[in-house]
Amino acid sequence: MQTILITGANRGLGLEFVQQLLKQETRLFACCREPEKADTLSKLSKSTPDRLELVTCDVASKESIIQAVREVKSKTNQIDLLINNAGILINDETLDSLQAETLVQNFWVHAIGPTLLIRECLPLLKASPKAKILNLSSQLGSLNNKMSGGNYSYSSSKAALNMLTRCMAIDLRHEGVIAVVVHPGWVKTSMGGPHAAITPTESVTGMLKLVQGLNEADTGKFFTWTGERHPW
Ligand SMILES: NC(=O)c1ccc[n+]([C@@H]2O[C@H](COP(=O)([O-])OP(=O)(O)OC[C@H]3O[C@@H](n4cnc5c(N)ncnc54)[C@H](OP(=O)(O)O)[C@@H]3O)[C@@H](O)[C@H]2O)c1
Repeated sequence: MQTILITGANRGLGLEFVQQLLKQETRLFACCREPEKADTLSKLSKSTPDRLELVTCDVASKESIIQAVREVKSKTNQIDLLINNAGILINDETLDSLQAETLVQNFWVHAIGPTLLIRECLPLLKASPKAKILNLSSQLGSLNNKMSGGNYSYSSSKAALNMLTRCMAIDLRHEGVIAVVVHPGWVKTSMGGPHAAITPTESVTGMLKLVQGLNEADTGKFFTWTGERHPW
């Protein structure tokens, strides 16, 4: 039985992770900002109460992260997989329209929050014989691939997540904790839009296959949802 924590689990890729992982031998802590409004998650939890628990967690708030991990720690002493999935995207952001507040918010959701969450969960991760961290990045966070302007807040905060993942992968290597970043593809969610290239089912199926095959040599790498290396 694998114990797994997922952020932004109420819709999009986060909800798809929950639905696919429930079909495996797992115990899930599904984090979201407002569990009382997470209807699909709540229904799933009612039918599998011993395997799926909803936890309030706003990854843009240090206090919320600390409170969420306190709650998780009261229920388990081990996390085998932590999926930092929560994300936001502001469309049509230009150099003219860029706001300091938006940059800060994106850095919280994509970089600072995920890192603080990992740090709070470290005792639980270290208790696992083979802990893995999957940080959802984006091709828009790739410096090599950045060929179009715009998306200042999103791209720079995902690039920060990439570097933070490299930092922690090196620091946690001797603890046996594997940390990677993944581009989930262009996916049909409310973020990706209806014209995106792949479905959440395809994306999450690919990412879970990637996670399953990860070993120590993979830590600190940037992957695509199909398991190939992504340029930094
Ligand atoms: N879809 C794509 O094409 C695509 C491409 C590249 C990367 N990604 C990445 O994949 C991840 C999932 O994206 P998605 O397509 O599933 O997006 P989505 O459908 O827009 O869902 C985003 C999720 O993140 C949650 N969230 C936002 N801010 C949060 C916060 N402060 N605290 C906690 N949860 C928060 C949302 O919760 P609320 O319901 O409370 O807002 C929602 O559950 C993101 O990290 C995204 O950047 C997606």
